[in-house]
Amino acid sequence: MSHILVTGGAGFLGGNFVLNWLANSDAEGVINVDKLTYAGNRKTLAPVEDDPRHIFSQTDICDRTALDDLFAKYKPRAVVHFAAESHVDRSIHEPGEFVRTNIVGTFTLLEAARAYCGALGADAKVVFRFLHVSTDEVFGSLGPNDPQFSETTPYAPNSPYSASKAASDHLVRAYHHTYGLPVLTTHCSNNYGPYQFPEKLIPLMIANALGGKFLPVYGDGQHVRDWLYVDDHCAALREVLARGRLGEVYTVGGWHEMTNLEVVYTLCDMLDQLKPKASGSYRDQIIFVKDRPGHDRRYAINARKLERELGWRPAETFETGLRKTVQWYLDNQAWVSDVMSGEHRNRLAKRYAA
Ligand code: NAD
Ligand code: TYD
Repeated sequence: MSHILVTGGAGFLGGNFVLNWLANSDAEGVINVDKLTYAGNRKTLAPVEDDPRHIFSQTDICDRTALDDLFAKYKPRAVVHFAAESHVDRSIHEPGEFVRTNIVGTFTLLEAARAYCGALGADAKVVFRFLHVSTDEVFGSLGPNDPQFSETTPYAPNSPYSASKAASDHLVRAYHHTYGLPVLTTHCSNNYGPYQFPEKLIPLMIANALGGKFLPVYGDGQHVRDWLYVDDHCAALREVLARGRLGEVYTVGGWHEMTNLEVVYTLCDMLDQLKPKASGSYRDQIIFVKDRPGHDRRYAINARKLERELGWRPAETFETGLRKTVQWYLDNQAWVSDVMSGEHRNRLAKRYAA
């Protein structure tokens, strides 16, 4: 059976991608390579645990020998690379792990893929792909009237997270240019949806709202993000993997810019409808806290190239995607308590105490 190798497939995006991929009954199998850091959770993969097309390997992408073994054993048709340290706030406090996984890990994976691809026969080599999943944060911060980010926007990463992702993008580009590795790169805006770790804005606000805690909005709450429902991102990645032009870059976004405060208000209003409090509104729990250092003011994406070349547009509006997301968190409180380990709770408590 043919397989694709997915890294970071126990995380938010990778987990959704694996579930979506295998939901298609004709899909190739998945070799799911994940170290299972605090952000990775096997419970996300419960729906495919018994699916013979899903093979899970708890492996660090910095481990070259383990990667070589997986390539040799399963001979994947493609690599879809999600594994990363992904949270900006953590990168400010502990940047070392971001350099290790995002840069050294991507380098190690590229080396393993290069060795594997180089030894493939002509037919297999033609179809092999390495899809690198990157972020719009590598482009830095936009002013209120600047045009949206596109494939030609110069790099200007501002956080240790975005700088480490930018470094990995450059390595991927260089492996195409220098060695002819058949790569594709995507830069996506902020995603939301089921299985997102409750340290990111939307799931954190839902968890805190339901737990009767404060909803901490950084600074003045006027920072802008361009929100995309996770299934729409997965659909875009499938299109790029299937029909993207080799060596090309695609920006992916939801065409939906909102300030953080607008997002939190919308979320509170939705929770007021779906799970009303005994008295008052969830909006009463909002507080403004000290801003994140170096906080990027605005991200926005022009996804026209993806639409023009591959016919992709998001299927969900923010309203429909958010409603699905809130309902999923209401129905899956056990998943949330499971991933919110003592270690994570202590970290958040320390940050807000400081
Ligand atoms: P996540 O933090 O939820 O998941 C990351 C996964 O990678 C986890 O399962 C973790 O266990 C795994 N991992 C971490 N270090 C590893 C290592 N050394 N070896 C193997 N596995 C390791 O992240 P996410 O939000 O799902 O993001 C996935 C990718 O998509 C990242 O590369 C991120 O930059 C990119 N991205 C995310 C968003 C977003 O809004 N979430 C938007 C654009 C791009
Ligand atoms: P986040 O989900 O961490 O994504 P990113 O920093 O990668 O965009 O944050 C989204 C926005 O929400 C960002 O502007 C920071 C802000 N934010 C808050 O205001 N409060 C919070 O508790 C968190 C986690 C984020």
